[in-house]
Amino acid sequence: MGAKPAVPERLPQMVASGISSPSAATCHPSNGRHVRPRMNQITAPPRPAILPRWLLAELRSDHAGEAGAVMIYRGILTISRDPALREFAARHGATEQGHLELIEQVLPPRQRSVLLPIWRVAGFLTGFLPALFGSRAVYATIDAVETFVDHHYQQQLDRLDAEGIEPALRAVLAQCQAEEIHHRDEAREATGAPPGVLLRGWAWLVGFGSAAAVQAAKRI
Ligand SMILES: [Fe+2]
Ligand SMILES: [Fe+2]
Repeated sequence: MGAKPAVPERLPQMVASGISSPSAATCHPSNGRHVRPRMNQITAPPRPAILPRWLLAELRSDHAGEAGAVMIYRGILTISRDPALREFAARHGATEQGHLELIEQVLPPRQRSVLLPIWRVAGFLTGFLPALFGSRAVYATIDAVETFVDHHYQQQLDRLDAEGIEPALRAVLAQCQAEEIHHRDEAREATGAPPGVLLRGWAWLVGFGSAAAVQAAKRI
């Protein structure tokens, strides 16, 4: 099982206390002033005051993705009786649960996607449907999903690097990405021979669906 990444100790404190990078002020109504303490925020209308707006949108998509990822493996475990695949799914599912809990620590509930039930159902089907056809279809699916997730996390890391902000959060996302890459490689190796046309078509659909879900989750 991939080691559960630890949130740097400062990270939740930074988020909870409103200590953030200078660019956080870009989405704060009092742009240029100090961020208000959390106690004051309880009585004020909820605002994405702590992190830059673009980063909150990215984290919303990460949260939606990790919630979906947990459900992918539940979908597999619901139907598959293949011991090796069940072990794979249980192990990966535990890692995804760890990722989900990490993102939940940095993304306030009010910032999460309102479409979470849809992402969960989509995730479940993304695991359940290929599992109907056997382990190879599942491994190819996981390869497709994790290939997408690797690029998704990488573009977030690139922007954080470009802006030079949130190093603690960057470390968390980088650790999640490293574990997704490990999942991808393990799935690719288990797939064996290159997938045929049908499986490649399904993998394309999974990648396309993941991209569409990320775009939606960034907004709502
Ligand atoms: Fe994950
Ligand atoms: Fe993963």
